[in-house]
Amino acid sequence: MAAAPILPGGVAILCTICINIQHMYVLAPAPTLYGRHFLTVDDFSAGELGALLRLAAYLKGRRTAEQSSVLPGKTLAMLFEKPSLRTRVSFEVAMTQLGGHVIFADGQEFLIGTRESPEDAARALSRYADAIVIRTHAHEPLQRFADAATVPVINGLSAAAHPSQALADLLTMQERFGSLQGLTIAFVGDAKNNVAASLAEAAVLAGATMHFGSPPSHRPSEHFLAKLKAMGKPHGGDARAFCSAVRAVRGADVIYTDVWTSMGEEASTERNRAVLSPFRVTEELFIHAAGHAIFMHCLPAHRGEEVTASVIDGPRSVVFDQAENRMHSQKALLVALMTTLKGFPV
Ligand code: CP
Repeated sequence: MAAAPILPGGVAILCTICINIQHMYVLAPAPTLYGRHFLTVDDFSAGELGALLRLAAYLKGRRTAEQSSVLPGKTLAMLFEKPSLRTRVSFEVAMTQLGGHVIFADGQEFLIGTRESPEDAARALSRYADAIVIRTHAHEPLQRFADAATVPVINGLSAAAHPSQALADLLTMQERFGSLQGLTIAFVGDAKNNVAASLAEAAVLAGATMHFGSPPSHRPSEHFLAKLKAMGKPHGGDARAFCSAVRAVRGADVIYTDVWTSMGEEASTERNRAVLSPFRVTEELFIHAAGHAIFMHCLPAHRGEEVTASVIDGPRSVVFDQAENRMHSQKALLVALMTTLKGFPV
């Protein structure tokens, strides 16, 4: 990818919060994420993801007023071809609380690769904005856009990946369990979707074991399972796919699901209902998980379809902590991609 230009006086943007952050930084040289893209989870190493989570937890514990001068004069362009509540608002609030500015364009104004090539759009927008978040359909035009951009490009959801959701998911699990290492996370339902893919990549890099529970039609490919195993091996992470929801959740610390039909695939709704109904997350399913198991969902949710109301509205559910953590984890992402701070909190 193209590196973002080094901003003159980048260090001068340090403010109260950054100074506080610096107090926590290791002095030894450490990787910086400045200028990098975040299109898929594996754009970052396990160490970089861990550092981002530590920064997110740190920022979450700071008062908003302390953070308002971290990104002064910076503009985040948000180009969303598909609907969004959480991703849009959490990025906007995160950027605003960091002292930056956001501009938003929806599919009426921006459709990647329609009025002009992704490369030309990226080159032009890189002259205005300091970072760009894109929510789009196919992943390939997003990759082409990022390859031509000279500012960080963040994937706000594509057909292949939802990496900013995965950051919030890991932060939420880390808060609940203290460590991600050794956790078993069971994703039940449409295990081929973008949320499951990014969650799984993040989980195995963090040393967790990912279980997928789905019918064969919604099972991750053998190629992807092999990739997950290879990614996880150095960190103690692993991945397995099951054709039974009960087997997938046995002993799991987390049961996670998502809607059965992703945006743009509404023609498959009835077929998905027919094959996925044995994979609905119910209180009965939780009997097979660990006693302390929590329920997660990226939202929006369809009660009575992929999850019962008694689970998502019950005591095991952490879905609104998870939604809140979109903002904290994305704040860390923006700080890491848009400032020249070296090293990460210890
Ligand atoms: N989880 C998530 O991406 O929500 P939105 O579609 O509302 O942004």
